[in-house]
Amino acid sequence: MYRKILVAIDGSHHSLKACEHTLELAERFPGATVYLLHVIGIREGLEGEVSTELLDEMMAIMKPFLKLGREKGITCETLFLHGEAGPIIIEHAEQNSFDLIVMGSRGLGSLKELVLGSVSQKVIKHVRCPVMIVK
Ligand SMILES: Nc1ncnc2c1ncn2[C@@H]1O[C@H](COP(=O)(O)OP(=O)(O)OP(=O)(O)O)[C@@H](O)[C@H]1O
Ligand SMILES: [Mg+2]
Repeated sequence: MYRKILVAIDGSHHSLKACEHTLELAERFPGATVYLLHVIGIREGLEGEVSTELLDEMMAIMKPFLKLGREKGITCETLFLHGEAGPIIIEHAEQNSFDLIVMGSRGLGSLKELVLGSVSQKVIKHVRCPVMIVK
């Protein structure tokens, strides 16, 4: 049922929980591949050039999950894209048919009044595949 699962990671504890949850879920679907996606913000990279420090930082965030995935026998792929998180995730989901997208309810933003952050809200609104929000 869930063979291609995309999990969106911004480094927040919400997204790390989402990632943990994804691996637990993927374990129940033999042959499933988990795609760990981080969208590097436009301001974080200089004119499309992304610093190696930033990539190192994100790899450091993703590494424990890649290790956990390996231990569980789940194929994991890491992906870095550049741009505005919401539209990029939506575009990527349109171009690749995922069976499920997993996201945190909130991210690194400081406004916490709303249940959902703007990125998760945009993705839910626009993608056609099922979306799982992890609180
Ligand atoms: N740059 C990103 N790359 C990948 N996934 C992201 C990115 N930003 C957000 N997400 C995903 O969206 C989820 C919700 O984050 P979101 O950014 O919507 O909330 P927020 O940061 O609290 O609010 P806002 O960004 O609207 O101020 C995260 O847990 C993560 O799964
Ligand atoms: Mg955010």
